[in-house]
Amino acid sequence: MSTRTVPKAELHVHLEGTAPPELVRRLAARNGLSLPAHLFTDAGRFHWTDFLHFLKAYDDAAQAIRTAEDYRDVTYDYLARCAGEGAVYVEVMSSPDHAALAGLSFAGHLEGIAEGIGRARDEFGIEARLIVTCVRHFGVERALEVARACVRHPHPLLTGFGMGGDENAAPASAFSRAFRIAHEEAGLACTVHAGEAAGPDSVRDALDGLPVSRIGHGVRAIEDPDLLRRIHEEGIVLEVCPTSNLRTRVYDSFAEHPLNRLAEAGCRVTLNSDDPPYFDTTVGREYAVAAERFGWDAARLLEATRTAIEAGFVDEATRTRLMERIGREPGPAVSR
Ligand code: ADE
Ligand code: ZN
Repeated sequence: MSTRTVPKAELHVHLEGTAPPELVRRLAARNGLSLPAHLFTDAGRFHWTDFLHFLKAYDDAAQAIRTAEDYRDVTYDYLARCAGEGAVYVEVMSSPDHAALAGLSFAGHLEGIAEGIGRARDEFGIEARLIVTCVRHFGVERALEVARACVRHPHPLLTGFGMGGDENAAPASAFSRAFRIAHEEAGLACTVHAGEAAGPDSVRDALDGLPVSRIGHGVRAIEDPDLLRRIHEEGIVLEVCPTSNLRTRVYDSFAEHPLNRLAEAGCRVTLNSDDPPYFDTTVGREYAVAAERFGWDAARLLEATRTAIEAGFVDEATRTRLMERIGREPGPAVSR
């Protein structure tokens, strides 16, 4: 097995952030919508300059995704590309708040994504699950509404609850009620963005306040040895997105990126694309980055895939099947 052909799995990608500019334009045309002129560069890429500007561009582009069919197509399109790169399992995050802003109900949003996952599985054998996310800078009340909607709309492919958005807008612990509802009443496993745009205190606050088994990014935990020890001891899995961290200027270079130091400190790490067309990456590219920039061989890359499947928000029968597919015995599931 070469580093290129190693089976891949991804736990951290924003569905609205997977649609490339051409697809966003196509959906906008299909929906009779005109997009803001400043959304694209002259070369036809997404235009943004810093992290908050990126979040705004993402929000603007997401408005082109308006119907259940749109969500189905975005989901299918992304999973088809992942399967083409050798991914066997992908968890997509998607935001009912963005769907609602585009006029789509929680149920329509969910059904569209589920249909896209089903089609991709039938055609390419790729397995996928949905993490419904709230948005930190949309506030606690909206997050509560999203969590309650998860309770009202159970679905076998909806297995996770998370939160993205501006990490500096509010502490994660302010959202503890929403996460408790999602976890205890909807039965969803949880993850949250932390330690990306803010430092280790943000990660600690998330671990103290929310029932999470994983942290989205979490890379800035590297700044606090006690926190690293805790992440190791509690078996928290980090959804690391190396290229995203460079593009949003968390780090200036791969040489400064702590991926290897996190792993050496005993943190369980996975490789993820986050928002592929915004950051000029793909899940396959992140595996290539780990090989070329961080010195990972095929066995180490396969270990990341194994960690992702162990930590995946998926039923045990599917986890066992995925482990068999990547040619390893199932390890312990991560639960909290
Ligand atoms: N939403 C989409 N991408 C995100 C990121 N990298 N961080 C926080 N929220 C996001
Ligand atoms: Zn993210």
